[in-house]
Amino acid sequence: TNIINIAIDGPAGAGKSTVAKLVAEHLSYLYIDTGAMYRTLAYAAIQNNVDTKNGTALKELLDTITIQLINEKEGTKVLVNDQDVTTDIRTAEVNKQVPQVASHEAVRLEMVERQRKLAMEGNSILDGRDIGTHVLPNADVKVFLTASVDVRAKRRHAEQIKKGMPSNLEELKKDIAKRDEMDSTREVAPLRKASDAIGLDTTALSIPEVVNEIINLVKKPA
Ligand code: C5P
Repeated sequence: TNIINIAIDGPAGAGKSTVAKLVAEHLSYLYIDTGAMYRTLAYAAIQNNVDTKNGTALKELLDTITIQLINEKEGTKVLVNDQDVTTDIRTAEVNKQVPQVASHEAVRLEMVERQRKLAMEGNSILDGRDIGTHVLPNADVKVFLTASVDVRAKRRHAEQIKKGMPSNLEELKKDIAKRDEMDSTREVAPLRKASDAIGLDTTALSIPEVVNEIINLVKKPA
């Protein structure tokens, strides 16, 4: 096919979604936020009292739900069985539960299948933890975004404050470090830089700088 796929992976708060959304807008690509899919399942599990340690039960729950990601100017709108959960999937409770939900093989197999289908709909940019390593090993461009835990926590903090949401910098730092640890050490498709991904440390880079770097890579793949 002549569909172009861009894979952006990295730890929590490295700026993946902000940057991916801007690159997608610039290139008129579809933006697919795969983290939102795992968050949606975590939210549904909490709502339905499904044990997040039980992979079989989570997979059964997943089989009953549709997850729609709708690209809008303000960001991705997320619908689960047509119900808008865009803000519900960003709570501290979901942050806490989501790595556990995402650790199960049965859950990941189904998610990856859904993600590949979405990626085949047209030129697209996917962000997540395992896009370059598992979901799209043949992606045209692979980027691995990182930044120090301090900077990532500060960015999240500023974002929360801007949205008028309560935020505690020290707690954010702990949360982010814990989530990275769980995502990097799980057995199935852990967070890892693909060997052919381009690493970009964004600690000292602005958002437009990172966006430009990626657009240049797409124009002229390495
Ligand atoms: O990207 P975001 O921080 O919204 O992702 C939430 C969580 O979903 C991650 O911490 C990880 O546990 C899981 N995830 C994953 N694989 C992906 C995307 C997200 O395991 N491709």
